Amino acid sequence: MVELIVPSLGEEEIAAALDVLRSRQLAQGAIVASFESEFAKLLGVRHVVAVNSGTAAVHCALKATGVGEGDEVLTTPFTFAATASAIVMQRGNVRFVDIDPRTYNVDIERYAAAATPATKAIIAVDLFGLPCDWAGADALRARGIAVVEDACQAIGAVRGGKPVGTQCDAAAFSFYATKNIVMGEGGALATNDDAVAASGRLFRQHGQVGDDFTELGYNYRLTEVLAAIGRAQLHRLKAITQARRANAAFYDEQLAGVPGVTLPYAPEGVIHAYHHYAVLIDKATTPNRRDRDDVRSALSERGVGSGVYYRKPLHLQPLFGGPQRTGEFPVAERVAAQVLSLPVHPQLSQADRERVVSAFKSAVGAV
Ligand SMILES: Cc1ncc(COP(=O)(O)O)c(C=O)c1O
Repeated sequence: MVELIVPSLGEEEIAAALDVLRSRQLAQGAIVASFESEFAKLLGVRHVVAVNSGTAAVHCALKATGVGEGDEVLTTPFTFAATASAIVMQRGNVRFVDIDPRTYNVDIERYAAAATPATKAIIAVDLFGLPCDWAGADALRARGIAVVEDACQAIGAVRGGKPVGTQCDAAAFSFYATKNIVMGEGGALATNDDAVAASGRLFRQHGQVGDDFTELGYNYRLTEVLAAIGRAQLHRLKAITQARRANAAFYDEQLAGVPGVTLPYAPEGVIHAYHHYAVLIDKATTPNRRDRDDVRSALSERGVGSGVYYRKPLHLQPLFGGPQRTGEFPVAERVAAQVLSLPVHPQLSQADRERVVSAFKSAVGAV
């Protein structure tokens, strides 16, 4: 079986975790601090605040940029639930904006057009590893709207020479077990704003200053073992991103022109991190008229894993409205019905990649 997701882990991670265990210092301390400064240096930002999940990082980003009760926050309906549920955690109002059919992201101009005087922030998502385009972000800021980036899927991605997580007021990263860089669970808030970083640090630790609990906070602390694994993972980031991009380039070349199949969009000047290599399958025009789920079953029969991210856009989820909202965001609904992720992880061999290509072509009837 060619698996959809395999993390890149090796002896350096194992040794780093063992060292921490031998030290008996498990709670957030010097290794977390080293991870923070190394990741901040790698991104080129002033501050990184390590937390224990990407969800916690999005929550911290919203709190630290001033989102509170009743504030409207704009985001995409085509993302993982945590992007929007973090808004609910801050008692904000979630307002979705439909996605662009090529990038599956919401671009800043669409956010700017949708924003109202009640809009306090936007959360732009670097979906599947494609960095969003920040042109126009300053105009949003000038309207008093905070610009938050959910970069949970996009570590290593770059646009116009600028790494994801560096062009916004606050960015969130995830190191969940399936991400490009893994800790098992883990996350980070990145920012150039001293006040945002200070607020994130307070929020991560119960709002505690000395003996005082000054405001509501949470236990969002990362552990030393996970930070040690994360430090070792950062050493691999370049190689991981390069391997994913090489796999994607192979698929781009081999699958170009297959009828009914749209390949991932990666414009000039962008380093896509390919957290997912997500294709769209249009049943009406594939040679054998198979839909996405039939193609997925056919791939599985041929020993190739694949995945659906995301089958249901968030406005159709019970938490955010449910089926009565059908039709509100037609592009997100169409993409959710057609999207399929193929294996793109760094452990793929040349034989694996060829197997994926031939299984995929035969699954859609193109051979
Ligand atoms: C876009 C996006 N946002 C937020 C999250 C939440 O991250 P975590 O699972 O680390 O809490 C994830 C990943 O799971 C994600 O893909």
